[in-house]
Amino acid sequence: MTEEKWITRFVFLESVAGVPGMVAGMLRHLKSIRRMRRDNGWIETLLEEAYNERMHLLTFLKLAEPGPTMRFMVLGAQWVFFSGFSLAYLISPQICHRFVGYLEEEAVITYSKAIIDLENGYLPGWEGLQAPEMAIKYWQMPEGQRCMHSLLLYVRADEAKHRDVNHALGNLDQNTDPNPFAAGPEGNLIEKKQLLEPYHIIGC
Ligand SMILES: [Fe+2]
Ligand SMILES: [Fe+2]
Repeated sequence: MTEEKWITRFVFLESVAGVPGMVAGMLRHLKSIRRMRRDNGWIETLLEEAYNERMHLLTFLKLAEPGPTMRFMVLGAQWVFFSGFSLAYLISPQICHRFVGYLEEEAVITYSKAIIDLENGYLPGWEGLQAPEMAIKYWQMPEGQRCMHSLLLYVRADEAKHRDVNHALGNLDQNTDPNPFAAGPEGNLIEKKQLLEPYHIIGC
């Protein structure tokens, strides 16, 4: 895998990864309105996940400009995945969260492989490369820790959180249980603390 091939893989992966949180958040939002009852604090976490995935995508787009074939593939994948996931979420949100948990684990594995390649010197183009400005701002990357290696560690840490959050949500009663990661008073303090704790990434 070259640097370019990794970026292509990341862009495609992230363009799909941004869908589930938005679909789940939207469907729970509509359900809350329709049934005229509270959502138990799930929507915010789901939309936050979608936003985080979109930031991953936008960050990698600063490093490569996808061609027309790639754009067409993203369009096709979004259409299929959005339709399929929406339908599946209406049928069984619990199974969907479990599925996303496993998908996020795959993302963790992908980023781990890229990190190992970089550490072993197979990606020389990334060795002296600084993370894009928007990534530095978004993750508040400290001075001296703004290289590509750090960036990949930040992104992988996000994916690991998505994995844990979705597996946890998949364990819950979708209609009655509060979201343990909610920022509001409904959230469990310990889980909230883990989720909001700043990263301690040392990569450069
Ligand atoms: Fe991501
Ligand atoms: Fe993710």
